Amino acid sequence: MATPTLDKDVSRQTSSLQYLPDASARADDASPNQFLMPLNAKVSDRDTLEIGGCDVPELVKKFGSPLYILDEQNLRKTCQQYRNALSNLYGGESLVIYASKAWSCTAICAIAHSEGIGMDVVSGGELHTALQAGVPSEKIYLHGNNKSVEELALAVEKGCTIIADNWFDLHNLVGLKPASPVRVMLRLTPGIECHTHEYIRTGHIDSKFGFDPTQVEEVFDFVTQQDCISVIGIHAHIGSQIFELQPHGDLGDVLVSWFKKAQDRGLPVAELNVGGGLGIRYTEQDDPPSIHEWIEVVTRSVTAACEKYQVALPKLICEPGRSLVGSSCVTAYKVGSKKTVPGIRNYISVDGGMSDNPRPITYQSLYRSVVANRMSATFSETVTVAGKHCESGDVVIPDAKLPPLETDDVLVVLATGAYNASMASNYNRVPRPAAILVNDGEANVILRRETTEDLLRGDCLPTRLQG
Ligand code: LLP
Repeated sequence: MATPTLDKDVSRQTSSLQYLPDASARADDASPNQFLMPLNAKVSDRDTLEIGGCDVPELVKKFGSPLYILDEQNLRKTCQQYRNALSNLYGGESLVIYASKAWSCTAICAIAHSEGIGMDVVSGGELHTALQAGVPSEKIYLHGNNKSVEELALAVEKGCTIIADNWFDLHNLVGLKPASPVRVMLRLTPGIECHTHEYIRTGHIDSKFGFDPTQVEEVFDFVTQQDCISVIGIHAHIGSQIFELQPHGDLGDVLVSWFKKAQDRGLPVAELNVGGGLGIRYTEQDDPPSIHEWIEVVTRSVTAACEKYQVALPKLICEPGRSLVGSSCVTAYKVGSKKTVPGIRNYISVDGGMSDNPRPITYQSLYRSVVANRMSATFSETVTVAGKHCESGDVVIPDAKLPPLETDDVLVVLATGAYNASMASNYNRVPRPAAILVNDGEANVILRRETTEDLLRGDCLPTRLQG
């Protein structure tokens, strides 16, 4: 297995070049989630960063900044690795579905779909996006702990699978009086702890998601009496940005034991969904397992549990979000103002921040950056990269090692594909950035930059306040 050899000692950081994918990135089995940059990022002979054959400073000139730059080949490779690992390592039928909350837009959904990936959606908006991208409804699974009746009705009408999270879902489904039985998976809280930020842990017992394990029998009793509900599977998700393999190793037994109970109660269960959660590398300290290793643990634990409980291998579904899209994208900013607080800190500010990447302020997430127009410049300074928003906490990277920066330098923050664009806001009425898909020297807009008109589109001025 190809593993990157990034130096973990921050004090030895010398220039942007060190973050470039090393020779191991060229191996077929190089796992994109283990690299800080898209696998085919390079330095051009002009000492600039190139991604997907496109020069990043040139992209910024053409499309403006901030700019999300998404490497199509990296995204496709990730999809293929998930799909191939799951179908090669699992003895039964399988499906990878993309947790589109990581970044829902039609281009990404269409690429994932063209690679044989299905879709996890959590709202009417994500559902419409998946349908618009051409994802067939039989590959769409609707999640959510507070689905509206309208969202449920849309999913039922289109023929998607509903992941019932709670009694509210089950009662609302019955209330819809569907003409034919709806495919439903039951989401259960597995009670598995994992080490990640508390906001993104979901599998522990005190979670808002899923049925509590003590309710399983009661839920089974209820659904067996409903002709309009066909419980075709069991689901659990334990959390996000997880580097340990053990929690997913433990999950198989818990899930299959419930699957077996459901089967014994006569429910037509045939699918098992283990959720997502595999972490990615954001800094040299992060050391996530590869996609292949993760799938190996998942398939081994499900297979062993099926033997133990004497059930035939169900269709196995996993739903990665972050690790599917996170490492395929970077965000390019332009450097603006600078400030030195003598003896304390140097600040440089970029033309975006918490509105295009709310993760640092929300989870204290760390990122790494490179200077796209001077890749080999020596990292001789420690500088805090601040965003442009009126909030002291709007810091993109605290104490970053970087070369001396000049106004208009292009600072590129790495691994921003997941939960950046999808969590972006218009705080301070800052328009959301454009996103560009790069591949083989071609660059296409997949999200156009918001305009002032977009920002004002929803504003209404009551007549008595006008003019
Ligand atoms: N399935 C379910 C039911 C989920 O709730 C999630 C993520 C996933 C799959 C995908 O997990 P992933 O493979 O991306 O780890 N905004 C946070 C992450 C929230 C994750 C929510 N659920 C962040 O920026 O870190």
